[in-house]
Amino acid sequence: MKSLYRFVIIFLCIIGVIIVLNISSHSSSNKKNDEDSNTEIISNHRDPRARGRLKKESMEIINQEVTICVVVCGDRLDESLTMFKSALVFTKKLLKLIVIAEDDLIVAFDEKLSEWKYLTNNSFTFVLKPIQFPNNSDASMWKRLFKPCAAQRLFLPALLNDTDAILYVDTDTLFLAPPELVWDEFKKMNSTQLAALSPEHEDPNTGWYNRFAKHPYYGKLGVNSGVMLMNLTRMREFRWTDYVIPIHKEYKLKITWGDQDIINIIFHYHPERLYIYPCRYNYRPDHCMYMSVCTNAETEGALVIHGSRGTFHSQKQPPFRAVFRAMQQYQFGTDKYENLFLPMQSYLMMDDNSHCGKVWKVFIIQPEIYIGNNFIN
Ligand SMILES: *[C@@H]1O[C@H](CO)[C@@H](O)[C@H](O)[C@H]1NC(C)=O
Ligand SMILES: *[C@@H]1O[C@H](CO)[C@@H](O)[C@H](O)[C@H]1NC(C)=O
Ligand SMILES: *[C@@H]1O[C@H](CO)[C@@H](O)[C@H](O)[C@H]1NC(C)=O
Ligand SMILES: *[C@@H]1O[C@H](CO)[C@@H](O)[C@H](O)[C@H]1NC(C)=O
Ligand SMILES: *[C@@H]1O[C@H](CO)[C@@H](O)[C@H](O)[C@H]1NC(C)=O
Repeated sequence: MKSLYRFVIIFLCIIGVIIVLNISSHSSSNKKNDEDSNTEIISNHRDPRARGRLKKESMEIINQEVTICVVVCGDRLDESLTMFKSALVFTKKLLKLIVIAEDDLIVAFDEKLSEWKYLTNNSFTFVLKPIQFPNNSDASMWKRLFKPCAAQRLFLPALLNDTDAILYVDTDTLFLAPPELVWDEFKKMNSTQLAALSPEHEDPNTGWYNRFAKHPYYGKLGVNSGVMLMNLTRMREFRWTDYVIPIHKEYKLKITWGDQDIINIIFHYHPERLYIYPCRYNYRPDHCMYMSVCTNAETEGALVIHGSRGTFHSQKQPPFRAVFRAMQQYQFGTDKYENLFLPMQSYLMMDDNSHCGKVWKVFIIQPEIYIGNNFIN
């Protein structure tokens, strides 16, 4: 009898211990959930769906932060802010923005980007740097040889020595889709390739390099450098800046387009180092002003437009100005469908007589996917 009692008591004790353990592990996992949701609130991504996703993808985001870099001089402040606005409008990831600017522009960037950071619930971080050339090369001569903005980008591997990779864009570009779609092209590059660019032209009859260049250039028609994925780690390994100075010495009298020509010359001698993406990653007036030559943009829409030839600010090719205008007018915190998509569409439809106006769908296909629906915004 006694041993039966003892058995029952021991049995009850064991059950008691199990229950206690269970409760305490439960409550600690509750605490952990609370902590998770706290970090989620702190990270405070702007739309609630993205917030849920953020938690799942947080590791991925840390590994694949999309870094956009721009070099700004002179009167390009407003233009480059509009470019950043377009990136922030479409992105679903945390962006890192790097601005390298003339000293007197830094304060203006700081003010505007801080305001936007607040309005977009901290959906990006930014770094401001003055234009600067590395001291260890004889690069101080660059300031004299080139306009400072043009030369700066060639030295980014040295200047951004703690950054692995960037998406470099000219100030006169606009995103029409999430910038991470461009960034994803890094995954398609093999281990030799240190940059990605799109061709300067699609059609030899209107190409510039094949008809006029007096220096070597990449491939059949050269490359345009306005939208450039740069793996800075690989560029440093390749000793990129060591190529720049001798090439400049040799070709300086034959160069027309500054840094873009130097990039073309380097990749002429090292074509295996360059990955080429299609024209819809860097859609320019040249793709439509004579006739439409960028067929992948006609079917799938441009991802990034590049208002070269001043087309964001003139009436020469109205669709470029139309998109710029709509983006410039959009205010963060207001409805993207009502206040961005609809105006963009109506500005685009005002013109269909210019050559580029004939293919205006190129400019609206991607925005329609991301902001063209009242219900998903
Ligand atoms: C930022 O978060 C607040 C509160 O969660 C929300 O009301 C607001 O709409 C958000 N802003 C944007 C731009 O998503
Ligand atoms: C280069 O030299 C200048 C003046 O000699 C100095 O102010 C600057 O910090 C130096 N830059 C770097 C990257 O060391
Ligand atoms: C990067 O550059 C900064 C200043 O230009 C210098 O102080 C730092 O040591 C450099 N870091 C590396 C890893 O070379
Ligand atoms: C850049 O190249 C380095 C070295 O090959 C690699 O580790 C890194 O993942 C690359 N970065 C991107 C964004 O592809
Ligand atoms: C990467 O691609 C280029 C161009 O197709 C090729 O020349 C190079 O050998 C490739 N590198 C590797 C490591 O496969």
